[in-house]
Amino acid sequence: WTVSIVGCPFSGGQPKIGVDEGPIHLVEAGLVNQLQELGWNVKFDGHHQFEDIKYTLSSSSATASSPAAGTDSDTSTTSNHWDPPIGILKNPRLVSRVCEEVAKVVSGHAKKGELPLTLGGDHSLAMGTISGTLDAHPRAGVIWVDAHADINTAATTESGNIHGMPVSFLMGLDGNHQAFSDFNKSNSPSLETPFAWIKPVLKPSSIVYIGLRDVDSGEKKILKDNGIKAFSMHDVDRYGIGKVVEMALDYLNADNTNPDEVRPIHLSFDVDALDPSVAPSTGTPVRGGLTFREGHYICERIWETGALVGLDLMEVNPSLEDDVSVKQTVAVGCSLVRAALGETLL
Ligand code: ARG
Ligand code: MN
Ligand code: MN
Ligand code: MN
Repeated sequence: WTVSIVGCPFSGGQPKIGVDEGPIHLVEAGLVNQLQELGWNVKFDGHHQFEDIKYTLSSSSATASSPAAGTDSDTSTTSNHWDPPIGILKNPRLVSRVCEEVAKVVSGHAKKGELPLTLGGDHSLAMGTISGTLDAHPRAGVIWVDAHADINTAATTESGNIHGMPVSFLMGLDGNHQAFSDFNKSNSPSLETPFAWIKPVLKPSSIVYIGLRDVDSGEKKILKDNGIKAFSMHDVDRYGIGKVVEMALDYLNADNTNPDEVRPIHLSFDVDALDPSVAPSTGTPVRGGLTFREGHYICERIWETGALVGLDLMEVNPSLEDDVSVKQTVAVGCSLVRAALGETLL
């Protein structure tokens, strides 16, 4: 069995620098070796270089003759002349291009029968990873483990940070259509229209959330209106993590014609699903999260199904909190990945 590591040092979906170093720290902590020790054939040929994308974007805009301000600075805090906000959405073209590339890479690995493991980077990358997985495995369901629902649209986002929006783009929700068609009328012809490549591949019935506890009011309405299945921390407290994961798996497999044939699963794990005492170094920590064991249990149980076809570990930010916290968060990240890839306690 082959796992292909897709290292994505990318932070453009949110404003804090450092999350782009997440994948570098996870690999430096020995992840490749750890997975080989579990018996995996590990393919990893270095982290992606999204610098090329910035360069192409900046030089394809008509105003690019002016010095490309921002190409070397943090793209997430300053907006570039080649990537002005759309409404309040920050870095829309950069996020779009990066995710488009990630989608191709993930789908390429998946079609060769390899398991793509994407290391973030911020969670906007899931537009790429899930598009890629669904391209190769159209029947796949998504288990999204997170404190947040990341389903804001251009109409509901209060932050303009696209890492809070990937699910809405994957579903092709109306709030984006409206905002983007308004925008298209006013877009300068020299600037590209982002997100045109994304197909609405994810049905609302093909995702289940676990761990939610910080959902914006606009997002609550979206979840309700679309009948999306979500297990919040309240549900984890009520039923216990064992029951919650069974309910999530049963939900995704509810209309299988052959009950033995489980649906392929893409697991998108945002490290902030864990309690900040367990994973402190992340950009949007929320108290009251999953324990160390609850997080690992989810990964172990999904591995046990034999249905895992795609895995993301997102939002590890090694520049937040002290050194001990960073070490702890990176170690937990590696250990979640190992649990999802077959490490057992006995
Ligand atoms: N709901 C908030 C927003 O839209 C927070 C999103 C946090 N997302 C994340 N991937 N950590 O800005
Ligand atoms: Mn570093
Ligand atoms: Mn989150
Ligand atoms: Mn997230």
